[in-house]
Amino acid sequence: MEGRKLPIAVFVSGRGTNLQSIIDAIESGKLDAEIKLVVSNRSKAYALKRCEKHGIPYEVIPSKRFKTPQEWGEALIEAVKRSGAELVVLAGFMKIVPPNFIEAFENRIINIHPSLLPAFKGLDAQGQAFDYGVTLTGCTVHLVIPELDSGPVIAQAVVPVLPNDTAETLAKRILEHEHRIYPQVIQWFAEGRVRVDNGKVVVLGAKYGTLPFNPQLERF
Ligand code: GRF
Repeated sequence: MEGRKLPIAVFVSGRGTNLQSIIDAIESGKLDAEIKLVVSNRSKAYALKRCEKHGIPYEVIPSKRFKTPQEWGEALIEAVKRSGAELVVLAGFMKIVPPNFIEAFENRIINIHPSLLPAFKGLDAQGQAFDYGVTLTGCTVHLVIPELDSGPVIAQAVVPVLPNDTAETLAKRILEHEHRIYPQVIQWFAEGRVRVDNGKVVVLGAKYGTLPFNPQLERF
């Protein structure tokens, strides 16, 4: 008998490689989730082509179609509620999510950011890390709160900066780890193992609080 699949909505704006890693993890049976809806704020996002290829429903809901962030938020809330999704996965969604949306799905919205938060918030985190000259950076999956690139950390992966790196090669190395940890975190939600305790995330039974560079992960 097939087990329950966690219904999710994925929010995108661009190329959608993280979306693809979620699709691949579902299709290969590693991730017990079902993408009920993809929401894009941009009609030209390449991520939507991936939806077409895999028969995933999507809606384009640009903020500029609405008078206020509040109204845009209401449209997003409506779309997610209609889809039946229980977890909202921001995967390269390049707009600040309105506060009413965050309130409506408190502790049920996650984001991935290409740095070890709280370092290098905002745009081009990989370039910021490269320019700063750190020797270790990585990626972070966290719960979404109104403050940008903040909120309780769920998982992090550490990625080294190598001597011959450019900002581009570094970004590519980080991305490989994004594609590994994001499906893993969604699987933890599917297994009902993610709890928030005193403003911190606890993953029940997790082998690692931080997913290291070359880990033996559970199923990923
Ligand atoms: C990723 O680097 C992610 O960490 C950031 O936006 C980028 C999205 O890439 N939030 P993609 O659209 O998933 O390829």
